[in-house]
Amino acid sequence: MFIILLWMVLSLVILAVVSFISLKHWLLSRKKKLHATSENSINVGIFHPYCNAGGGGERVLWCAVKALQKRYSNAKIVIYTGDIDASPNSILEKAKNVFNIAIDNDNVRFVFLKQRHWIEAKKYPHFTLLGQSLGSMVLGLEALLKFPPDIFIDTMGYAFTYPLFKYLVQSKVGAYVHYPVISSDMLKRVQQRQMSHNNKKYVARNPFLTWTKLTYYRLFSKMYKWVGRCAETIMVNSSWTENHILQIWDVPFKTHRVYPPCEVSHLKKLEHLEKGEEFIILSVGQFRPEKDHPLQLQAIYELRTLLAQDEALWNRIKLVIVGSCRNEEDYERLKNMQDLSKHLSLENNVQFKVNVPYDDLLKLYQTAHIGIHTMWNEHFGIGIVDCMAAGLIMVAHRSGGPLLDIVETSEGSQNGFLAVDAVDYAENLLNIIVNNVDTVGIRNAARASVERFSEQEFEKNFLRAISTLFPNA
Ligand SMILES: *[C@@H]1O[C@H](CO)[C@@H](O)[C@H](O)[C@H]1NC(C)=O
Repeated sequence: MFIILLWMVLSLVILAVVSFISLKHWLLSRKKKLHATSENSINVGIFHPYCNAGGGGERVLWCAVKALQKRYSNAKIVIYTGDIDASPNSILEKAKNVFNIAIDNDNVRFVFLKQRHWIEAKKYPHFTLLGQSLGSMVLGLEALLKFPPDIFIDTMGYAFTYPLFKYLVQSKVGAYVHYPVISSDMLKRVQQRQMSHNNKKYVARNPFLTWTKLTYYRLFSKMYKWVGRCAETIMVNSSWTENHILQIWDVPFKTHRVYPPCEVSHLKKLEHLEKGEEFIILSVGQFRPEKDHPLQLQAIYELRTLLAQDEALWNRIKLVIVGSCRNEEDYERLKNMQDLSKHLSLENNVQFKVNVPYDDLLKLYQTAHIGIHTMWNEHFGIGIVDCMAAGLIMVAHRSGGPLLDIVETSEGSQNGFLAVDAVDYAENLLNIIVNNVDTVGIRNAARASVERFSEQEFEKNFLRAISTLFPNA
């Protein structure tokens, strides 16, 4: 009985090995044939199934393509995308219109993938992580069957595709990670039986389900680690992502922080129109709960207390809250905020501006002195970078991206301020307003420091990180 079982297992293993070897053999000969006409060029495949989405991730993609074209004239670039209803020209046109990035279309081709539905979250109401990951392998398989590249770069974080490209067609793999698929925070939340959007109430309440979920997450983390390490170079978009990826993948020598390119050059050129009579503190952000607008109102309330003796100065101070509302709930929150400002008798010093056009925002940047940001643990904070580029003095929350990546408060290189609670914010605001600090120096430092997040800086660091993927680097 035992012998038979052993024999069956053994033959299954042999069968698997043999089919893997023959599949690999077939794919490699196919790769050779496909690339026979282009001996001197190097084929770079970029995996970005949603390349026509026009978001921040797509700016990274197009800047990366442009950088590759500039640096490697012998690179043939192929973009794997699931946007089957868009034409190559319309995709490149959109890149030009949305991001003002002109891609030379001579050496860029698109491979259209039909299996993108496998990676959509709604397909997997349960075990979403595993479902999407296996789904991405199906999509990756379609990609490598259609075009096996010499170098494979994933710009959307589908790590489960890396072993396919590495082991089946011997591609060199590079990754740009915006976000870890699973993090130690997620594990901790399940362990401590907290409810959250990815830990439902009935799971948190039930010890057996919690145990099952924890085991699932732990196994998944192990797999994620193994596939992630198949990449030869790993780029992460911020310190926050870097910390998480180092925790899970733990390969510091091939992990590089490459900030995504921010469009700041036009903001850096904005001229500042200081107006004597008003002192504008600007807040820019959607009316989402995590932005913590109430803290801004409390900070202004505390500022008034600090300014008790100086009524005239208080009357000149104005907090302008600019934000967009996406839905009913956002409008509801806005209404609550307006009520709160009345409740604190701040209505003469606080102004709300909803869904303002970009040109008006630019004018506000020009007339405002200070920028305020209150969100706890924001992963980055592009809005802060924008304000600093536009010449505002920033008071941001002492956590997350502002603390790790953006705002520097040590003497000599100070480019802004950090605060935690309302009194803290008020004291910083007061110091800036009554000019206890070197506002000119800080403003200049802030404008200069955002260069770290520019397109040029991205290009330089991206090319440095991927150079190991190219032959004789
Ligand atoms: C990195 O990507 C995540 C997820 O898209 C995003 O929340 C974060 O703001 C990004 N960081 C930067 C520096 O853009």
